[in-house]
Amino acid sequence: MGIKIIATGRYVPERVLTNADLEKMVETSDEWIRTRTGIETRHIADASQATSDMCREAAKNALEMAGIAPSELGAIVVATITPDHSFPNTACLLQEEIGAKNAFCFDLSAACSGLIYSLVTAQALMKMTPNLKYVLVLGAEKLSSIVDWDDRNTCVLFGDGAAAVILEKTDDGNDSIKAYNLGADGACKDILFMPAGGSRMPASLESVQNRKHFINMTGKEVFKFAVNAMVSSSQQAMTDAGVAPDDIKFLVPHQANYRILKAVAQRLDIPEERVYMNLNRYGNTSAASIGLCLDEMVRNNLLQKGDKVLLTAFGGGLTWGSIVLEW
Ligand code: ACO
Repeated sequence: MGIKIIATGRYVPERVLTNADLEKMVETSDEWIRTRTGIETRHIADASQATSDMCREAAKNALEMAGIAPSELGAIVVATITPDHSFPNTACLLQEEIGAKNAFCFDLSAACSGLIYSLVTAQALMKMTPNLKYVLVLGAEKLSSIVDWDDRNTCVLFGDGAAAVILEKTDDGNDSIKAYNLGADGACKDILFMPAGGSRMPASLESVQNRKHFINMTGKEVFKFAVNAMVSSSQQAMTDAGVAPDDIKFLVPHQANYRILKAVAQRLDIPEERVYMNLNRYGNTSAASIGLCLDEMVRNNLLQKGDKVLLTAFGGGLTWGSIVLEW
């Protein structure tokens, strides 16, 4: 038995928010944003678009590439920290939208590491479930709904989008995921979190007035943590897969900040030309970011059979994870 990635898809909203637009909203500059983050534009969903709406478009693209019907999906997993509702989960909403009536559905919350956590979870489920042939995994976020648009420390960083991956169980014994490493450190929960809206601090007039329903981030701490976590997790995954940095065709890191990505690549000894980046166009889309990269790479024919690809991410929790893929 083998579990293979057979298709990808993506969707980003039409509306583009440029650094020049942000200059009119908060005290910032295109120069500051580009040099400190590498971001030039991000896509922002309409008020009428929720996370499941973006999932639907990404899922349709992936189903088309896979050439399978929605009814053939046995499970849907949506990695997100911006679900349409606390419940029902976003995967259930998507199931209904695309008519995947035979799929069981759940969301997975691991912030920016969500897609990596979900791919590993999906593979494990497929290995232990005899009749689970196709699983649809998505990373999708409407981060614009939890960004404080008055806070220049965070509002310049994030964007919206959705990415989909379809896994198939095959008979040939080859898995796409050659090795993985997942980790978490709840002691760092306060450096990247949303204070209100859960059972700890339910929504109230006071929580809204005190702007507690937005991303709260200590940027410098997150930066340091991100580099260390992605480097050590990637090294462990490469060791477990029996591959060296030279064997990696592409490093696909979570698209958080150009400086973080550069530092990770340097410490992993992977030259920058083998690091896939699109954060200049999309900003940080949390759980969607690695999937947006993968889909672009697939549709631009950058990946050939047998290529080794290293995915690595970190996010709120804190969480981190890496996967060595064989295409
Ligand atoms: N425009 C202009 N100035 C700004 C802006 C802005 N948008 N934002 C902050 N500044 C100012 C600060 O106020 C500070 O001014 P001060 O020195 O007068 O206090 C100055 O710029 C420098 O701020 P620093 O925090 O030192 O800037 P730094 O180089 O660390 O960059 C950044 C900040 C970009 C946030 C960086 O720390 C970073 O990328 N951190 C990681 C963020 C990240 O990856 N988050 C992932 C979250 S994903 C998830 O799980 C949802």
